[in-house]
Amino acid sequence: MRLKDRIALVTGGGSGIGRAIALRFASEGAYVVVNDVKLDTAKKTVGELDGGRGRAIAADVSDSAQVRAMFAEVERELGGRLDILVNNAGIAVSGGDRERLRERAEARIAETFAGEITTHWDVTMNMSDETWHRMIGVHLNGTFFCTREALKLMSRVNRGVIINMSSVAALSGLDTVPHYSAAKGGILSLTRALAREVGSRGIRVNAICPGYIETPMTAGISPMMQKVLLSRTPLGRWGQPEEIAATALFLASDDSAFYTGQWLSPNGGLVIGG
Ligand SMILES: NC(=O)c1ccc[n+]([C@@H]2O[C@H](COP(=O)([O-])OP(=O)(O)OC[C@H]3O[C@@H](n4cnc5c(N)ncnc54)[C@H](O)[C@@H]3O)[C@@H](O)[C@H]2O)c1
Repeated sequence: MRLKDRIALVTGGGSGIGRAIALRFASEGAYVVVNDVKLDTAKKTVGELDGGRGRAIAADVSDSAQVRAMFAEVERELGGRLDILVNNAGIAVSGGDRERLRERAEARIAETFAGEITTHWDVTMNMSDETWHRMIGVHLNGTFFCTREALKLMSRVNRGVIINMSSVAALSGLDTVPHYSAAKGGILSLTRALAREVGSRGIRVNAICPGYIETPMTAGISPMMQKVLLSRTPLGRWGQPEEIAATALFLASDDSAFYTGQWLSPNGGLVIGG
């Protein structure tokens, strides 16, 4: 039991990677607060936790008032203790944007094979303020809002672990999602600055930069795009949420006691070096 009696909060725990992390942490003895913007999915994850040791709290992490209310509940109900925070909640492109990008991507792939590229991405110059702010709001603001509240609890005992979900998008940039890449890059830089800021308090801050992982977020990627991504991945497959959960467990446990300000990238070799 590597997390025996620790209290963890996992944002976006109702699906995909966050759900896998919540389940793994509970199986290692942690009590897990599962946050999600959707209460029903957070509750479903709690129902699956080993020994049912957890609670669901709905909050939109991009809204600082909702985040404050969530941490007030943690403080009230769990004796003001929080050992581990995983800032995982996230969104990808959606709706019409996703369809447009898919069409562009497929046209570009066909042209690449034909030896001539005339299709441009043109994502940034057509992006609305709203699309930009929403992406930064959920990922970067959400990470900041939750971290700010968690530090108030962790600083009381000068102990704690924060794990931020970044992405390979932060390491190499993804041309189709500049706003997502910027948000994930901001999370990585925040991780490094925080590690320096709070290290003397015994609080460790690290990031995970996953490659492509099979979750509802990536389910909409077209078969052609999937083939291209796989061809660039030496291990020849996508990752599973449980493989990211294993990395999160390492960073949450005392096994990583000398790690802070670092990132680990389970990515099948898609990005090597950094
Ligand atoms: N799947 C991948 O290939 C991949 C790769 C790199 C990084 N990531 C990152 O991993 C994290 C989890 O992604 P996933 O693939 O499991 O996606 P997912 O869509 O399966 O899960 C994301 C969860 O976050 C929740 N969420 C969204 N906005 C929220 C908000 N404002 N407040 C609270 N909860 C919110 C969703 O309801 C959902 O349950 C994200 O930060 C994502 O950017 C994913």
